[in-house]
Amino acid sequence: MERTLLMIKPDGVEKRLIGRIIWILEENGFKILGIRSKHFTREEAERFYEVHRGKEFFNSLIDYITGGMVVGIMVEGENAVEKVRELIGATDPKKARVGTIRFMYGESIERNIVHASDSKESADRELKFFFET
Ligand code: CMP
Repeated sequence: MERTLLMIKPDGVEKRLIGRIIWILEENGFKILGIRSKHFTREEAERFYEVHRGKEFFNSLIDYITGGMVVGIMVEGENAVEKVRELIGATDPKKARVGTIRFMYGESIERNIVHASDSKESADRELKFFFET
């Protein structure tokens, strides 16, 4: 069993997709171990997305992610990291596979509804922003 973080971003919260996303996770056999909403400070958001520091979209990403509430969901399942990434689809909703969360609800590469950890190491690091693990 593996754990990962799925984070609903401010546009997902604004669009009232929290329940639907949790439903999709459960419907796909994942277990929800924790849910916590929070409002990132700039410093936290910059640490959360530190691998993107220096990229041209970094400041705009931080403005956006600190602009509203986010919801962190601790998800458990077999190969959860890879499978949740499949379920959310490509970063750019225009390139996301039909049926994925980003395909269905994402507006643009930045306003793409959700984030999910891209490796076990990222999952361990990112879960700590929401949960005492
Ligand atoms: P996420 O999976 O949360 O990881 C980093 C985020 O940066 C990404 O989703 C996008 O929302 C955002 N982003 C904005 N512009 C870009 C870009 N050109 N390439 C990749 N990610 C981008």
